[in-house]
Amino acid sequence: MIRKSSEDGVQILRLDRPEKKNALTGAMYTDLAEALEAGNTDDNVRCHLFCGRPEVFTAGNDIGDFLQYAGRSGMSDAPVVRFLRALVCNEKPLVAALDGIAIGVGATLLMHCDMVFASPRTVIHSPFVDLGLVPEAGSSLLGPRQIGHARAFELLCLGRPFSARKAEMAGLVNEVVEGDVDAAALACAREIAAKPPEAMALSRRLLRGDTGQLSERVEEEIRIFASRLNSPETIAAFQAFMTKKKA
Ligand code: COA
Repeated sequence: MIRKSSEDGVQILRLDRPEKKNALTGAMYTDLAEALEAGNTDDNVRCHLFCGRPEVFTAGNDIGDFLQYAGRSGMSDAPVVRFLRALVCNEKPLVAALDGIAIGVGATLLMHCDMVFASPRTVIHSPFVDLGLVPEAGSSLLGPRQIGHARAFELLCLGRPFSARKAEMAGLVNEVVEGDVDAAALACAREIAAKPPEAMALSRRLLRGDTGQLSERVEEEIRIFASRLNSPETIAAFQAFMTKKKA
């Protein structure tokens, strides 16, 4: 589930499904999307903070949920797609606190965040190609822009996990926090929320630039991703995960 709370203009969105390593279900994506969409027009929301549980930010998309889309012609009505679109349209600053594994969309959503804090045990991992899939959330565009082609290839195509330090050096993480990472991220989110909101919104919009290309890329990724769900490579990878689960 997603636990929502508010503090001093910060909407805290805590991923909280520890028994499944915070793997994201359709219901969780819907909650996240609704929170971002509503935040755009709510003056009381000045910043969003994504956080997880000790040792786990998220294991990415729930693989069982994904299997629902195999055999279907597309996934434009999927809650994950609504969430990805909400990330592109989101107008409020985004802060993330990572303490542990951040897999799949847990890695790619960071590219939409304005400030990212990570504990030293954080590992950021995008095993899309190993799953027969392609990177999503606009990461095929944002990744090379943010961390350069070579590192983006290593993370998004080769699927090598990045430690917190490596992610910090790459520019994906602002700060590695030795102590309480949630507290450090919340302090930063509060700092953002205390700034003049109009000036903050205008400045952030300038930094992000035109999001038209990003939006097109997200849609292109979704089309390819949906068709890949029916590929023998992906079916084999998901079956391997489900079989391991039963063993
Ligand atoms: N989707 C669905 N269930 C997941 C999941 C996911 N992405 N990640 C973990 N889980 C479930 C496991 O099936 C297991 O459930 P069970 O207790 O009912 O068997 C539970 O969460 C704990 O996971 P487990 O694999 O036993 O923990 P671990 O510490 O050995 O490994 C991970 C943790 C995250 C490394 C491993 O679960 C994993 O690789 N998950 C898949 C990550 C992935 O490929 N995500 C998709 C990205 S697009």
